[in-house]
Amino acid sequence: MARKLILDVDTGTDDAVAVMLAALHPALELIGCTTVNGNIPVTSCTDNTLRVLEHIGRGDIPVYEGLARPIVRRDFPIPRTVNDAAGKYHPDALPVPATTLRKQSASAIEFLIETYRAATDPIVLVPVAPLSNIAACIALDPKFVSRVPEIVIMGGGHALGNVTPSAEFNIWGDPEAAASVFAAGFEKITLVPLDATHRALITAAHCRALHALGTPAGQAASAFIGHRIAVHDAHQKQDIAHSTPVHDALAVGFLIDPALITTRRLHVAVETHGALTVGRTVIDTHFRGGQAPNCDVAFDADAEGFAQLLLRTFAGQA
Ligand code: BDR
Ligand code: CA
Repeated sequence: MARKLILDVDTGTDDAVAVMLAALHPALELIGCTTVNGNIPVTSCTDNTLRVLEHIGRGDIPVYEGLARPIVRRDFPIPRTVNDAAGKYHPDALPVPATTLRKQSASAIEFLIETYRAATDPIVLVPVAPLSNIAACIALDPKFVSRVPEIVIMGGGHALGNVTPSAEFNIWGDPEAAASVFAAGFEKITLVPLDATHRALITAAHCRALHALGTPAGQAASAFIGHRIAVHDAHQKQDIAHSTPVHDALAVGFLIDPALITTRRLHVAVETHGALTVGRTVIDTHFRGGQAPNCDVAFDADAEGFAQLLLRTFAGQA
């Protein structure tokens, strides 16, 4: 039986690949997408998600719009003075045709709370964006945490940050929300941080192979990933020439093939105050804090396995 999931996205080039992977792989049943302020304003995230779903023939998957800003801070999106390349990864409108699809009338928060309240099958929650919607659900519904059987988060970093030297974008984008999620007591959290996503680089050669598939998903993935490679080449060169992480899609890939990532069970908390470190995931790799582990944290990934998964899925051969 296909595994049910909900994707919480700020679509976004790599979110778009994650959406297509979740919508098209037969091992998964994407029951809805929720959107949130992040890479671009939430209205653009919603429009991009709808565009991508219609483009690949999955306009049946409902999209619910969520929070337009962080749960506490009033200053995000802020000018990215520390790393002004970050905004270039995600055009406001992705290069696929405009859509006639519309978002659902219920909000993301209403959808999430009600879906988990009524669920009879396990539904994995996969946030690959700032955690504002998830924190709002925790605050509004005291039973939300116990009703979510599994959560897979793309975010954070131990050895590297991207939006600041210390912080990864999704956690930095709403640090108070992220802090509340990691402290909430979810039964099973898997964290896919930059340490893992930067081990699963997709190259320009993979991009050409995706384009050559000739399918809407293959060609869209090639365009989205190609855009990311161009920005990385100009602003943040990767270890492999002409390559990019496709962060959010790796989190979805893990649900299809858990062997794609290698994890350690550790305690994770989020810094919300540090002048230089706000938004840092503090990952207790050496058990110095004395707190029980709350996460399986990925530190490595199978790059070629991930690339082949994208190719097979977007070829329609998964
Ligand atoms: C994360 O930040 C966003 O820009 C990407 O979509 C991804 O979710 C990577 O740091
Ligand atoms: Ca994202």
